[in-house]
Amino acid sequence: MLKGKKILVGISGGIAAYKICNLVRLFIKAGAEVRVIMTPSATKFVSPLTLSVLSRNEVIINIFNESDFSKAESVNAGTWHIEYGMWADVFLIAPATANTIAKIVCGISDNFLLSAVLASRCGIIVAPTMDEDMFKAQITQDNIKKLRERGIKIIEPIEGELASGLNGIGKMAEPEDIFEFVRLYLKDKKDLINKKVLVTAGPTVESIDPVRFISNYSSGKMGFEIAKAAFERGAEVTLISGPVNLSAHSKIKRIDVQSAQEMFTAVKDNIKGKDFVVMAAAVSDFKPKNISGRKIKSINEFNLSFSYTTDILHYLGKNKKRFKLIGFALETENEIANAKKKLKSKNLDMIVLNNPSVEGAGFGTDTNKVTLIDKKDVTELPLMSKRDVADSILDYYVKNLS
Ligand code: CTP
Repeated sequence: MLKGKKILVGISGGIAAYKICNLVRLFIKAGAEVRVIMTPSATKFVSPLTLSVLSRNEVIINIFNESDFSKAESVNAGTWHIEYGMWADVFLIAPATANTIAKIVCGISDNFLLSAVLASRCGIIVAPTMDEDMFKAQITQDNIKKLRERGIKIIEPIEGELASGLNGIGKMAEPEDIFEFVRLYLKDKKDLINKKVLVTAGPTVESIDPVRFISNYSSGKMGFEIAKAAFERGAEVTLISGPVNLSAHSKIKRIDVQSAQEMFTAVKDNIKGKDFVVMAAAVSDFKPKNISGRKIKSINEFNLSFSYTTDILHYLGKNKKRFKLIGFALETENEIANAKKKLKSKNLDMIVLNNPSVEGAGFGTDTNKVTLIDKKDVTELPLMSKRDVADSILDYYVKNLS
């Protein structure tokens, strides 16, 4: 099940550390390669020797481990944490104490495990484990929220008898459940193979004169994350983007445009054969009626009047053939009612509602808080990384529209 997968297991100092022996056995039995890192306090709960035997690898505890300098032949001993961070397909930290979680959030790296977190390039999964009061403490909750916003996956603790003897929430999820979580995480999601998707992203700019324009604050991050996620899940992706400071995978067909009119033309030229369209671009609703051929010199000449741009999404909804259509709505009041109106008037299959005034949501941020709305359901999602929002939108497509 996990053949060829490389799992880095980080154990911090909680009583549940002893259960990781069983978890490591499960990973090894499933064919994974496992390396274990322990914090010094974790060694008080379970023997590194046990974990070394079970993982069939040496267990690293300290940043400078003199007895291990023999390894310096193949790996520079001082940079093992970087080697480990680059080696893994996934980094699981279980149990993750309140202390380790807080240090990860702050970027502290005063032990090998924490240094490896900073140096890791793979996805990270954290299983918080602690006493109920510590878990419910506002600071811990804030820290867990921050991990989530950075794209780190959380395996929620469960209710049960805690080390303190009290019953409550904070117990580490059972090894079998953690195993299943990691297995699903590592399973390459290729659920968009043979699908063709058109994604729009970024702002449009509407010229006033040769040196001035009107535009908006869209960074393009949301649309680029959707394009990237769809590509990684196997789709053939066409990305039409307004001016942004982002790069896309070379196998994504990227078309750069400036104005709403150019975006409209590019969409029409590329719509053929698509299975679904995600209009994440913040297309300008209006443009200056006349573009001055020369630079406007004085405010007296600045008599701007505007005309509407073509509503690309509306056009697609009206001319919808085989493709499914997902739009975005940016609302700051009567959000759900307004988004539902748009869903209907633009003939969409689903609309992603976001409110830029919510903290951490909207333009420029790496996170977003959205609500997915279709004819039947209104599904509010928590604040999460834009990549996770992208995957949620694609999950919706796979489940309901494909
Ligand atoms: N859209 C479009 N063409 C336009 C304007 C918007 O395709 N000329 C698309 C956007 O890509 C987005 C959705 O329509 O998917 C947003 O709808 P819009 O009616 O522009 O609403 P908002 O900008 O969210 O809000 P408002 O109602 O204030 O215009």
